[in-house]
Amino acid sequence: MPPPPATAAVRVRRAELSDLDDLVALELATFASDRLSRAQYRRHLDSDSALVLVASANHRHFLGTAVVFFRKGSKVARLYSLASKPDARGKGVGTSLVEAAEAAARRRRCHALRLEVRTDNLAAIRLYERLGYRRNRFLDGFYEDGGNGWRYEKALG
Ligand SMILES: CC(C)(COP(=O)(O)OP(=O)(O)OC[C@H]1O[C@@H](n2cnc3c(N)ncnc32)[C@H](O)[C@@H]1OP(=O)(O)O)[C@@H](O)C(=O)NCCC(=O)NCCS
Repeated sequence: MPPPPATAAVRVRRAELSDLDDLVALELATFASDRLSRAQYRRHLDSDSALVLVASANHRHFLGTAVVFFRKGSKVARLYSLASKPDARGKGVGTSLVEAAEAAARRRRCHALRLEVRTDNLAAIRLYERLGYRRNRFLDGFYEDGGNGWRYEKALG
């Protein structure tokens, strides 16, 4: 299927079982390490402490995903994963997913959203900084392959 035009309406909704194939395929295509398995996605779909979001164009064409974790007793939510399909990048999908994650965290009365990003992932860093995330910690060897990360956080008004 051709990529949707930049003007296609991006909708973000909670993921369903029928999204599993798309979620796992995007995970495999996107991340070389620290991947979520199919079983983990499956568990997160039904979990109270996780929210899997899916971005789609006009409700069907799968464009990307974000995974948010919540912890009992914590007012800080964690944006654990964010990915848009390669042919859908630069059209606002990532932005819509982060904004939906923030809205979900606010609904859960969280006062901040936190995330980790590889220090060499400049596209993601640009996006997070544009959306108001502030770097607050260096994470030495944070990733499974030994890669370094930054922690970012945004206060949710
Ligand atoms: C990082 C990632 C999620 C960004 O997703 P995306 O869908 O391209 O994000 P957006 O389109 O919202 O933003 C990307 C750029 O496109 C621009 N853009 C947004 N909407 C646009 C539009 N309608 N037309 C033209 N450009 C647009 C944005 O200004 C943004 O530029 P900037 O971030 O340099 O300021 C994506 O590159 C990705 O999946 N990367 C691999 C996985 C990854 O690294 N995930 C993050 C792990 S922490």
